[in-house]
Parts: sequence; C-alpha cells; structure tokens
Amino acid sequence: MRLKNKVCAITGAGRGIGRASAKLFAQEGAQVFILEFDGLSGKAAVEEIVQAGNQAIFVQCDVSNESSVKNAFEFIEKTAGTLHVIYNNASVYLGGKDGIITEIDSEIWHRVLSINLNSIYYCCHYGIPLLQKSGGGAIINTASSAGVIGIPKCDAYTATKGATIALTRSLASEYGRYGIRTNCIAPAAIATDMVKQSNPDSDDFDAFSFINLRTPLRRWGTPEEVAQLALFLASDDSTYLNGTVIAADGGITINGDLAKAQAVDHA
Ligand SMILES: NC(=O)c1ccc[n+]([C@@H]2O[C@H](COP(=O)([O-])OP(=O)(O)OC[C@H]3O[C@@H](n4cnc5c(N)ncnc54)[C@H](O)[C@@H]3O)[C@@H](O)[C@H]2O)c1
Repeated sequence: MRLKNKVCAITGAGRGIGRASAKLFAQEGAQVFILEFDGLSGKAAVEEIVQAGNQAIFVQCDVSNESSVKNAFEFIEKTAGTLHVIYNNASVYLGGKDGIITEIDSEIWHRVLSINLNSIYYCCHYGIPLLQKSGGGAIINTASSAGVIGIPKCDAYTATKGATIALTRSLASEYGRYGIRTNCIAPAAIATDMVKQSNPDSDDFDAFSFINLRTPLRRWGTPEEVAQLALFLASDDSTYLNGTVIAADGGITINGDLAKAQAVDHA
C-alpha cells in the first residue's frame, strides 16, 4: 500500500499508460481522480477500479481548456479536501497531421501545444496550491523519447515534449522547497492506442518491426511497466528524486545511430 491515504489526479487516464497507472495507484491505496476528456473510457476506468474494491472518481476534463482544469481541481478540493500527486499524462500525437515545420498546419500546431503543454501549465497552476496545502507532494510529467533525441516529422509533438522536460526542471527548482518533487517520465515504444493510431496501416504491434529492431530489448513496452515507474515517482520510494527525467523505452534513446542498429540486424 505505497499510496495509502494519498489523493492523486491523473490526466488522460481513460486508456493506455494513464489507465494502467490509475489502476495501480488505486491498488496501492490511493484515491484516484481520473481527469479525462473521453467520458466513455474515463467512466469505464473508474468502474474497473471500483469493481476491484479500490477508489476512483471520474472528472470530465479537457486539459487544454483552462476553465475545465480549474473546475476539476476545485472539484478535487471539495471532494477529497486535499491532493498529493499530480500526474500530467494526457497528450495527443496527431500522426498524419503533425509533421515538418514548413508544412504543418497552424491549427494543428496550436492544438498539439494546447493539449500537450498548456495542460501542464493549467494543472500545475491550479493543482500546486493544493499540494502546498497538504504539505508537499509529487508531480509527474510525461515527455517522450521525442523530447530527448531528434525525431523527424512530428515537430509540434517534439516541441511539447522538449518543453515538458525543461518545465520539469524549473518546477523542481522552484517547488522543491515546499516538499514538492517534480520528475518526468520519457516513454517510447509502449503498446497503446496512441501508437496504433499513429501507425494506421497495422493494428498488429509485432508488425512494427522497425520498433523491435530499434529497441535493445527487442520488444514493445507495456503500459503496466510505465505505471510501475510512475508509482515509484509518486511514492515515498523516491523521496530524494527531484527534476529527473527517466526514460522508459527499453533503451531506444541510448541506441545512437538507429539506422545502423537496423542495418546490423539485417546483416
Ligand atoms: N505509447 C508510447 O509509446 C508513448 C511514447 C512516448 C510518449 N508517450 C506519452 O505517454 C503519455 C500517455 O500515452 P499513451 O500512449 O497512453 O496515450 P493514449 O492516446 O493511449 O492515451 C492518452 C489519453 O489522454 C486522453 N486525452 C487526450 N486529449 C485529452 C484532453 N484534451 N483532455 C483530457 N484527456 C485527453 C485520451 O482520451 C486518452 O485517454 C502521453 O503523454 C504520451 O505522449 C507515450
């Protein structure tokens, strides 16, 4: 019960990594608030958690909308009276629409920045005062390998993920004095709907051999594996970690020349 009596807000927890984390956090004793845009998946996540005998509450929230986020944190304060963890997980990867900077449509650019980056501003702006009132807590941000190494043809997405890492460090510098630790997870190649949707030609993960080849572990990661890392960062197991960026990517981002890795496998 590593999160016993803790109140945690997780954005985008209707599916994927967020949902796996919500289930694990609740299993570890937390009361989890699921801040999710999609009502169907958000409610289904809550139902699954409650059926397992644990605590979760669905809060319909568009993280790219300031008043929606403000209302969500007001609701959390009214309902739970406190908050210990803010897990900024929600993002979009608009495959086929995001792209190179000279071609990307300005509406797409602003939409991606709004969902992936402005959301962190809103959630921290309205959530950090609650962490301060509770005497401290943990913020977990979500970047990507795209924030750590150069990845072409998704410039809006990479811009938000690089900014997420920079913001993690400045939040860690400023709010550490209040007992608030801010850390960041940088996933890659995790088998979720986001990855399926950005590779619409196949719904078979094994078919994406390029990922298998580029990952030193030669397999996809699971949302549950990232959830374990999030649990570590949320809990008292990581009390001296502040401002870190931890890759959850099977080693992709340390792999150097990815094209060469592929060539070697084919040899
Ligand atoms: N899956 C990967 O390999 C991978 C790689 C790098 C980074 N990431 C990051 O990990 C995080 C989770 O990714 P995932 O693969 O689980 O994604 P996912 O698409 O499966 O889940 C994202 C969730 O966010 C929700 N969401 C989207 N827009 C929202 C909004 N405006 N307001 C509230 N909720 C919203 C979606 O409805 C969905 O439930 C994201 O930040 C993503 O960028 C994932």
